[in-house]
Amino acid sequence: MGRMDGKVAFITGAGRGQGRAHAIRLAEEGADIVALDCPSQGSIPHPLATEEDLNETVRWVEKLDRRILGIVGDVRSQASLDSAVAAGIAEFGHIDVVVANAGAWSVGPFWEIPEEEWKDVVDIDLLGVMRTLKAVTPHMIERGSGSMVVIASVNGKEAGVNYAHYVSSKHGVLGLMKSVALELGPLGIRCNAVLPGVVRTPILDWQGGWDLMAGGPGLGTRDHMESGGKAYALLKGVGMLPPEATSEGVLWLASDESKYVSGQELAIDGGHMLLPGLNMANIAEAAAAANG
Ligand SMILES: NC(=O)c1ccc[n+]([C@@H]2O[C@H](COP(=O)([O-])OP(=O)(O)OC[C@H]3O[C@@H](n4cnc5c(N)ncnc54)[C@H](O)[C@@H]3O)[C@@H](O)[C@H]2O)c1
Repeated sequence: MGRMDGKVAFITGAGRGQGRAHAIRLAEEGADIVALDCPSQGSIPHPLATEEDLNETVRWVEKLDRRILGIVGDVRSQASLDSAVAAGIAEFGHIDVVVANAGAWSVGPFWEIPEEEWKDVVDIDLLGVMRTLKAVTPHMIERGSGSMVVIASVNGKEAGVNYAHYVSSKHGVLGLMKSVALELGPLGIRCNAVLPGVVRTPILDWQGGWDLMAGGPGLGTRDHMESGGKAYALLKGVGMLPPEATSEGVLWLASDESKYVSGQELAIDGGHMLLPGLNMANIAEAAAAANG
């Protein structure tokens, strides 16, 4: 008996990273999957998932003898999400779980981030979550049940230097999650959030991510992903988390094991949020010294 037997989960941003890990973990427990990814790039500076990435997710899930529908789509478009949900219902008959996971970012002081990047990041990280939940809501209301899991971030609770658009969006996602939980609870639908800490995925594996971990623009090298990850975690021996770490929280919130839980924020962050904080200026100074 799997913990997700008979259930269907719709996951955005499932082409790689944590989204792929969620698809695999839920499928391991018996779920069939609707996986959406591969949007247009827009002004996002880091690479997004390719169709080959999405096909790889499809192969992983099929290897588990579960069914999966891979859909090229974009959370910036309500029509794209609505048609993905319609395709999922046509294929599997129902959708029980939605994981609003797609995300992207860029870097820069808030007053220098171009308006286009502000719009794209908010469009994906906040409005994209709203559209994803909206797409499944009529179906879940009709069924009188459903579990919604939104992927926020520790940046839903705390600020960060040089990505104010992302921080603003993730704070907004938690407000959205609680409002949705309040509105849909009486209709039998739950909504909760997972707040990842620093996770080893491609969203951080580019110059902007390396700089974030090093403490300032131009200071980062790829090595800073791992060393910075260690600085973020409280728990002994924990650095950057593997993508599968957050899938355990997603699985619990998606499954009936959490049937009495709604409106909650589950941080999976190696204890990061208990730390008094990081002095990025000091980290930057150390990184600059190390770089000669
Ligand atoms: N990696 C971390 O350290 C970290 C920390 C906190 C929160 N998060 C959040 O976790 C979630 C998953 O990110 P990840 O770490 O797996 O990174 P990732 O870049 O590997 O995955 C994000 C996925 O979202 C997809 N995506 C981006 N814009 C999209 C759009 N407009 N439409 C559809 N898909 C889109 C990307 O193509 C990619 O496959 C994101 O919401 C991210 O903000 C990540």
